[in-house]
Amino acid sequence: MAAWPRFPGTIPPAASGRDSLDGMPDWGALRAEFPLLDRYVYFNACSLGPLPQSGRAALARYGQDWDEQGTPVWFSTWLPLLERFRGRVAELLRAPAGFTAIAPSVSVALTTLATGLPLPAGRRKVLIGELDFPTIGHQWLSRPQFEVEFVPSRDGMTIRPEAFAERIDAQTALVATTHLFYTTGYLQDVRAIADAAHAAGALFVLDGYQTCGCVPLDVKAMDCDAFVGGCLKWLSGGPGNAFLYVRPELIPRVRPQGTGWFATRDPFSFTLQDLVFADDARRLETGTWAMACHYAGLAGLELILEVGVANIQERLRDLTDRILERCDEAGVQTFTPRARSQRCGIVTLECDRPEEVEASLHAAGVIVDSRPGRIRLSPHWCVTEEELERGMDLVLQHLTAGVSR
Ligand SMILES: Cc1ncc(COP(=O)(O)O)c(C=O)c1O
Repeated sequence: MAAWPRFPGTIPPAASGRDSLDGMPDWGALRAEFPLLDRYVYFNACSLGPLPQSGRAALARYGQDWDEQGTPVWFSTWLPLLERFRGRVAELLRAPAGFTAIAPSVSVALTTLATGLPLPAGRRKVLIGELDFPTIGHQWLSRPQFEVEFVPSRDGMTIRPEAFAERIDAQTALVATTHLFYTTGYLQDVRAIADAAHAAGALFVLDGYQTCGCVPLDVKAMDCDAFVGGCLKWLSGGPGNAFLYVRPELIPRVRPQGTGWFATRDPFSFTLQDLVFADDARRLETGTWAMACHYAGLAGLELILEVGVANIQERLRDLTDRILERCDEAGVQTFTPRARSQRCGIVTLECDRPEEVEASLHAAGVIVDSRPGRIRLSPHWCVTEEELERGMDLVLQHLTAGVSR
C-alpha cells in the first residue's frame, strides 16, 4: 500500500503568469482573469467570488486527471493536491503546517469544533455576537448541554469588544464570533475578545469566512483557539472548500464526535475496532473529499495569495470609501462603519424592498445581494473606477425608485 502523502506532490503551480508583480498589482491586467466581470458590474464578491480562468482550467484538469489515470490518480495527484491545499490554507492563516484541515462547509467545520473542542470542565455558557452569521448560533443552540447567550449590539452595526468582555465569566466555556459581520461589514477587534475569553479560562473560536482573502490573517496574532473559513467568497474558489485550524497545543485533546476513516492516524490500515485519531489536524476531517471542488479551491486560493491579501484589502477599502461617499451624497442610509480600519469589502444600504431591487439591478447588469431591509454591496477588487461609478448610479437609481413607490 502506498504511504500516506505527507508533502505537496506532483501538482504544478496554477499557470497564472503573474509571478512578477511588483508593489501594487496591476488591477486592470488581473481583471482579465475573471471573464464574469465583462458581463456584470460585480458587487457581490463576499457571497460568491467570480471564477478565475485558472479555476476554470483546474476544473478541466480535474476531469482529465480522473479520466487519464483512474484509481492511481488518488496517490499520484489527488491526495497531494489536498495536502497542498492544507498547506496554502496554513499560509493564508499564518498557521503552522499540519494544523489546518479541510471541511465541506463552514457549518460542518463548526460542528466538528462544537463536538470536539476540549472545553473547560463544568462550564456550559457559550457567548455569540448578536450580529454573527446564523449558522454559528445554530451549532450551539442545537446542543442542549450548552447555554447560549447573545452579546447585543447597541447600534445594530458594531459590537464593542467590551460588550463581550462584560459577559464573560467563570461559567463561560467558549466565545464564538465572526471576524467581519455579514450584514454591516464591521471588522471586529478580535484580539481584544480573545484576550477577554482567555483571561477567564474560556476558548475563542473565530469564523473568518468574510475575511479570508480580503483581510490579512494571522491566527497566532489574533490568538484564536480555532478558526473556520472557506474559499467560496473572497478567495474565488467556489463551494465545497471550507477549512479549519485548531491551536497546536489543543489538537491532541480534540475528539470530534462526527468523524470518519480519513480522520484516523492511518486510514489505509482499515482498522474497524479501534479509533486512533490522526496526530495532526487531519483528525478534524471525515471521509472522501469532493475532489473537483478542491481543484477550483486551490486555484482561487493560490491566485489570491499571489496577488496579496494586504493589496486586496487596500483596494477594497478604496472602493468602499467611494461607495460610502456616493451614498452620503445621495442621502441613503448605510449600516457600515466609516473608519477604514473597521471595515473592508462590504457596505450595506437601507432598502425597503431589497429583493425587488436586487432583481431589477440584476436585469440592469449589476449583481448585488439583499438581506432583510438592506441591499449589500461587496465590489470585486477588479471592478474599475468607471464601473464603480456606473454601478453606483444604477444602485442609487433603483434604490430610490423602490423607496418612493
Ligand atoms: C460569516 C459566515 N459564516 C458562515 C457562513 C455559512 O457557511 P456554510 O454555508 O459554508 O456553512 C456564511 C455564509 O455566507 C458566512 O458569511
